[in-house]
Amino acid sequence: TLNHLRHVESLATLPSGAGGIPKLNAVILGESLASEEDDLVFPSDDFSRRAHIPSPQKYLEMYRRSIEDPAGFWSDIASQFYWKKRWGQPVYSENLDIRKGRIEIEWFKGGISNICYNCLDRNIELGNGEKIALFWEGNEPGTDGSLTYNQLLQRVCQLANYLKDVGVQKGDAVVIYLPMLMELPIAMLACARIGAVHSVVFAGFSAESLAQRIMDCKPKVVITCNAVRRGSKIIHLKDIVDAALAESAQNGFAVDVCLTYENHSALEKSKTKWQEGRDTWWQDVITKFPTTCDVEWVDAEDPLFLLYTSGSTGKPKGVLHTTGGYMVYTAATFKYAFDYKPSDVYWCTADCGWITGHSYVTYGPLLNAATVVVFEGAPNYPDSGRCWDIVDKYKVSIFYTAPTLVRSLMREGDEYVTRYSRKSLRVLGSVGEPINPSAWRWFFNLVGDSRCPISDTWWQTETGGFMITPLPGAWPQKPGSATFPFFGVQPVIVNEKGVEIEGECSGYLCVKSSWPGAFRTLYGDHERYETTYFSAFPGYYFSGDGCSRDKDGYYWLTGRVDDVINVSGHRIGTAEVESALVSHPQCAEAAVVGVEHEVKGQGIYAFVTLVEGVQYSEDLRKNLVSTVRKQIGAFAAPEKIHWAPGLPKTRSGKIMRRILRKIASRQLDELGDTSTLADPSVVDELIALADS
Ligand code: WT7
Repeated sequence: TLNHLRHVESLATLPSGAGGIPKLNAVILGESLASEEDDLVFPSDDFSRRAHIPSPQKYLEMYRRSIEDPAGFWSDIASQFYWKKRWGQPVYSENLDIRKGRIEIEWFKGGISNICYNCLDRNIELGNGEKIALFWEGNEPGTDGSLTYNQLLQRVCQLANYLKDVGVQKGDAVVIYLPMLMELPIAMLACARIGAVHSVVFAGFSAESLAQRIMDCKPKVVITCNAVRRGSKIIHLKDIVDAALAESAQNGFAVDVCLTYENHSALEKSKTKWQEGRDTWWQDVITKFPTTCDVEWVDAEDPLFLLYTSGSTGKPKGVLHTTGGYMVYTAATFKYAFDYKPSDVYWCTADCGWITGHSYVTYGPLLNAATVVVFEGAPNYPDSGRCWDIVDKYKVSIFYTAPTLVRSLMREGDEYVTRYSRKSLRVLGSVGEPINPSAWRWFFNLVGDSRCPISDTWWQTETGGFMITPLPGAWPQKPGSATFPFFGVQPVIVNEKGVEIEGECSGYLCVKSSWPGAFRTLYGDHERYETTYFSAFPGYYFSGDGCSRDKDGYYWLTGRVDDVINVSGHRIGTAEVESALVSHPQCAEAAVVGVEHEVKGQGIYAFVTLVEGVQYSEDLRKNLVSTVRKQIGAFAAPEKIHWAPGLPKTRSGKIMRRILRKIASRQLDELGDTSTLADPSVVDELIALADS
């Protein structure tokens, strides 16, 4: 159609190279579209015309500037925010090259601002006071609420005043362990307002995991609620917090204040266990505080939050983000990657316990004065149509979710989708793992009625915001590709020697030079920061992901290349699961690998060697799985326990995971060379036990 030609002509005239701009030769020459790579999906003319970035030329022009003049490019965006004092010179300074010394990244240093002020007070001054900031949809259909920007500011101020009253000061940590109530973003913003550093712990983590994080960052206050309903289940969060606080206290760190929100739809106050002196009901105290609260003005490089994530060792990493660069970056990425307009209603299904909920439920959208839907419940409750029910109810126009959700709904049948109108939808988004082309098509064709571009956003806890993402309206998409880099981002693909490779290729995904949203350190362990991310390929930030680039310059993420497993978009270290398993008194050794899973993307597959003399049993299998649930959280429960009389090890004792992965995925004819094993016969034993 003509629509196709318009795009193709414009793209064809672009110089190749810079930013990896596509040439689209196959289509121009009318060749048959033979492979996935040639399957182009174009935004409509109408969409492009109204988009912030309507054409590849516009992108290229801005992208070029962002690379050639990062200081100027980002200063222009930063200037849209309120700064008590403008940043100094240079606008940014960085060393990403480990050979040149300490890794350091700074943006807008000397600039004095506050992200809460920019989310709320500033947007109110701009006339958004009566605009809805948050729509809240409860677990049970029919339970809901909303807050305007004015009301949100008042709630945030009351909590901020309370936190100050109990002694929280600038730089102090506050741990937040809450489900998706409006109180979760309120708590984050209240911390930011007074310069406290929030550390949100996903409320699906176990008491042990919560305790570990509390002992690491030593918060003044822990904020939680008594219980929550998710689907038909009730989860007693306060009991989990009690156990975590007890464990932390036993290990020498006692938390003084546990502020508890009464979620009375889930559990009555009177049925909640209570520790006098330490525990305080949110509703009892908060309303006594004034609804205005002075802002603590902070430096752009003052810490905003800590968020723990998994790596390749058992100890979680406290990813630290600072204020100014993160603010500018999340706001800009939100605006462009979703083509956000003031009339949009935006819903991201992620929980605030993950980075997606930090950058794209709370900060990015609110900095843009967006209306955000916060959903407490589960997407399949009361049935698999719930998401589309919510979309219709709030007239959601931008819907951002994860491939695992798309795949799970896909299995339930189209009727759950087609029952609803969905006509408000304009842009769809995907995050967490590569989206397989068949899920992409279902999402696009059915959910979006072939009308809504999909922003498949590649990024990480560490990057703070989108790194490689479509800009809807700017260029055609390829199902399964995250397309091109965001402004200011220079992705490079390197080979195993760390040498940058050009053109059509595949290898390890790294980033050259910093971007404002980058994390600045791992809390309390700058050395681990340097070795994990900057030592593998000196001169670059290494993402841990594999990636290829096709002939048109599109990027295709291929998954983690380190010991990290991605289960339903949740990042889990194999070492964490292994250490949970071996904590069981009857487990002698464990080795964990990821296997392909139809819905979750990857599933956890554990090889377990029992203590001498202990017999395999179904009870023991259940016991081991529940040990992992208890230590990490339900989302990390192994899919399969494979009994292993021995593990394949080299003569120096190193477990050969390559072989375990092949056994786990039953690719038994691809085991490769097993002759370097200390005892090659263990492989046959493992195969014999595969389905027992
Ligand atoms: C890892 C980061 C960033 C928010 C959610 C996860 C994988 C994330 C994509 C995508 C392919 C993706 C990567 C990455 N990932 N988004 N669109 N396409 N892979 O954050 O827990 O820090 O995990 O998730 O493997 O390294 P995270």
